[in-house]
Amino acid sequence: MPTVSIGDVRLNVVEEGSGRPLLFVHGFPLDHTMWRAQIEHFANTHRVIAPDLRGFGGSDVTEGTVGMEQFADDLGALLTELEVTEPVSFCGLSMGGYIAWQFFERHRDRLGSLILCDTRAEADTEEAQSTRHGLAAKVLKEGPDFIARTMPAKLFSTRTREERPDIVDTVQAVIRSTSSAGIAAAARGMAERPDATGLLPQIDLPALLIVGEEDAISTVDEMLEIATRMPAAEFKVIEAAGHMAPLEDPAAVNSAIETFLLDNAY
Ligand code: MLT
Repeated sequence: MPTVSIGDVRLNVVEEGSGRPLLFVHGFPLDHTMWRAQIEHFANTHRVIAPDLRGFGGSDVTEGTVGMEQFADDLGALLTELEVTEPVSFCGLSMGGYIAWQFFERHRDRLGSLILCDTRAEADTEEAQSTRHGLAAKVLKEGPDFIARTMPAKLFSTRTREERPDIVDTVQAVIRSTSSAGIAAAARGMAERPDATGLLPQIDLPALLIVGEEDAISTVDEMLEIATRMPAAEFKVIEAAGHMAPLEDPAAVNSAIETFLLDNAY
């Protein structure tokens, strides 16, 4: 898989297809492979770019804290390195959505539209921050196995866990192979992320919000509230899916994204 140097780190990046650029930004603590069904589908019509973020997959790791601003700036630098000059459709899931808010703030001129899957706009509560710092300390001490064991209950719907253990296994394997320092740095970065709710009314770009019906992390109600506050947002619920809707029901998610991209061609 090609790597691209963006200054202090090298990022692993999948780049396939040609046409308007479509950037896929993965969630925590995963890598670009969570988008495999979207990469395969949209490479027929778009220039698909799916990086591993700093600290994840095959990309370089930086220790300490990596904020959502840093991830957003990494993606801006990546687009520069790849000589992407057209407006980009930015599709982020969960932490990828937290990064999307910062990308809008810092690189607005690069954006054509936003696709936000299973994400939140509010900052962490003090309790959530403390849980993240606890996770960061524990992963550095013990490695990521405990996350791989406990996270699927929150990531997937009941149906996915019962009927698609292969998807759960694959995600667990990705988590187990992820750098502990990378996980800790992003967990600390998420704990510090700014509240994006005040930004929502300013996001006048075409936007599609997608949420799994059983998402236990970013609920349907919470995402509907985000959509209501954004001036040009559409809202789509994926039935019987959880937080990982693009992996759990790729056909439904791809169809929603495809319709949105066709309706909002620029
Ligand atoms: C993710 O899927 O990126 C995480 O669930 C985000 C989070 O922990 O807030």
